[in-house]
Amino acid sequence: MKKVAILTYGCQMNVNESAKIKKLLENNSYEVIEDIKNADVVFLNTCTVREGAATQIFGKLGELKNIKEKKDNKMVIGVTGCFAQEQGEELINKFNYIDIVIGNQNIAKLPKAIEDITNSDLKHVIFTNNEDELPPSLEADFENGFSASIAITYGCNNFCTYCIVPYVRGRERSVPMDEIIEETKKFVNKGYKEILLLGQNVNSYGKDLNSGENFAKLLEELNKIEGEFWIRFTSPHPRDFTDDVINVIAKSEKVTKSVHLPLQAGSTRILNLMNRGYTKEEYIALANKIKEKIPGVALTTDIIVGFPYETEEDFLDTLDVVEKVKYDNAFMFMYSKRSGTKAAEMDGQIDDNIKKERLQRLINLQNECSKKNSNIYKGKIVKVLVEGPSKKNKQVLSSRTGTNKVVLFEGNINLKGTFVNVEITETKTWTLYGKLV
Ligand code: SAH
Ligand code: SF4
Ligand code: F3S
Repeated sequence: MKKVAILTYGCQMNVNESAKIKKLLENNSYEVIEDIKNADVVFLNTCTVREGAATQIFGKLGELKNIKEKKDNKMVIGVTGCFAQEQGEELINKFNYIDIVIGNQNIAKLPKAIEDITNSDLKHVIFTNNEDELPPSLEADFENGFSASIAITYGCNNFCTYCIVPYVRGRERSVPMDEIIEETKKFVNKGYKEILLLGQNVNSYGKDLNSGENFAKLLEELNKIEGEFWIRFTSPHPRDFTDDVINVIAKSEKVTKSVHLPLQAGSTRILNLMNRGYTKEEYIALANKIKEKIPGVALTTDIIVGFPYETEEDFLDTLDVVEKVKYDNAFMFMYSKRSGTKAAEMDGQIDDNIKKERLQRLINLQNECSKKNSNIYKGKIVKVLVEGPSKKNKQVLSSRTGTNKVVLFEGNINLKGTFVNVEITETKTWTLYGKLV
């Protein structure tokens, strides 16, 4: 049996697609392993959202090249995912030792590509047609055994001016609601305790289906499925965050009380240049409404610093929103130029040193907010999903609250994948500590 290793970079969508690739290959009699040195075929599932993501891939490709040479070239190297979709043939022109390039919209062709390369004289196989069809809905499995993700939409129509995703993932396509419900039921029956709904803009779910299906209805239907499990989703777009979605989250027992609400920038002027479709004031009002209607909700966000034309004053608007909204956590990035996007063509690109300095100030402020938010948990009893032993100490279990806080406590490993109650005794910026109730 041929051995395949898959290395995953990028976001949850790639994690989801790697699980599908794994299933696809197992269905075609491949053994999926971890160790790249022992693999006959290695696939990199790549990301290209920022320049750093691409650099990481180049590093790994260099390592694979060495391994392949040591094996007398008896190893197939494949690249899939967003970077493969973006680069296409270019990748093979640059790195002749790559055998297969498959865009993220063509992963169904992966077994055929491996067959073609091993059983024919073909030097390279490239599939990067934008097919705009949905990837196959395979019954994938997720390594951890308790958390499964389901893609509910593919692609994105928003064209935020900094972002490459709409170019590499194509137009927005929703998965029919009955399919999502069926898949959720299957995962819950298999014992998964957490279903993560994925899309570039989950709350525009259904707009392309013309069947009246929308994100609020989807959450409502999934909440009715029997069994003890949590429903999470990422990411919604602030512009499309309707009241009915807020209400469904508030009243649905299974939907966790955490909302990832990407801000990107605090200045209305910059938000306009980014094509985000909301103002600073509208965003703050939305965040306040969510907090008011969903008591105890945890808000998290994505922020970019150093977008073209961002002044110190614009940046202060970003800090101001962070201070007002008091996020539990934030993913913070320096703006990274992606060729083909509108922002890459803008004058007024910001110096790297200024970007670094702003990022550091933002991180400092966010750390304070996270610490304060963690503090609130002290003395409380919280329901958590146990994820497994903690990384540092095998005697200690790592778990997560519905609000996505990491909770460490002493307990038996058999508790993995179950819900328990923990009393919080100590809090740090990123981690809560407690004892089993
Ligand atoms: N569709 C999702 C996620 C997009 S990618 C959403 O809109 O929320 C994840 C994050 O990467 C974005 O939210 C943004 O903050 C960041 N990002 C995207 N393109 C970027 C770029 N060119 N430079 C820096 N950060 C970027
Ligand atoms: Fe990119 Fe904007 Fe679409 Fe998110 S919503 S994927 S940031 S274009
Ligand atoms: Fe995700 Fe990176 Fe593609 S963030 S959508 S894997 S470009």
